[in-house]
Amino acid sequence: MYPHLLEPLDLGFTQLRNRVLMGSMHTGLEEHKEGLHKLAAFYEERVKGGVGLIVTGGFSPNLRGRLHPMSAEFSKPKHAQAHKVVTEAVHRHGARSLCKSSMPGVMRCIRLPKVRHR
Ligand SMILES: Cc1cc2nc3c(=O)[nH]c(=O)nc-3n(C[C@H](O)[C@H](O)[C@H](O)COP(=O)(O)O)c2cc1C
Repeated sequence: MYPHLLEPLDLGFTQLRNRVLMGSMHTGLEEHKEGLHKLAAFYEERVKGGVGLIVTGGFSPNLRGRLHPMSAEFSKPKHAQAHKVVTEAVHRHGARSLCKSSMPGVMRCIRLPKVRHR
């Protein structure tokens, strides 16, 4: 049905072992203490199952882009260092990961004016 699904894909800068992609899904582990280790284990299971490219849940590229005050940020070398546990788990099985940079804009939890219902 999809004859090329399991074929490698050369993106130029990297090669994917197949075209199976796990879409970006924020799990909530992104901002938990020790959450990145759990996230790595979560993605590793998907990769073992054959996924070629993991797209992580959203990480904010700066302070203002965070979805809520506690949401995960990826803007400093220390964040990249901490994230290695995820990429290493994915690479261990020949897959690739794409860290999704997320600027949620209107989705941000802003204080909206109270609407009075009659
Ligand atoms: C629990 C959950 C979390 C999600 N988190 C994100 C996210 O962090 N970033 C994003 O771009 N999309 C997120 N999405 C959207 C998915 O990546 C995807 O676009 C959406 O589920 C539609 O794909 P589908 O038609 O295959 O279900 C999330 C979806 C779900 C169900």
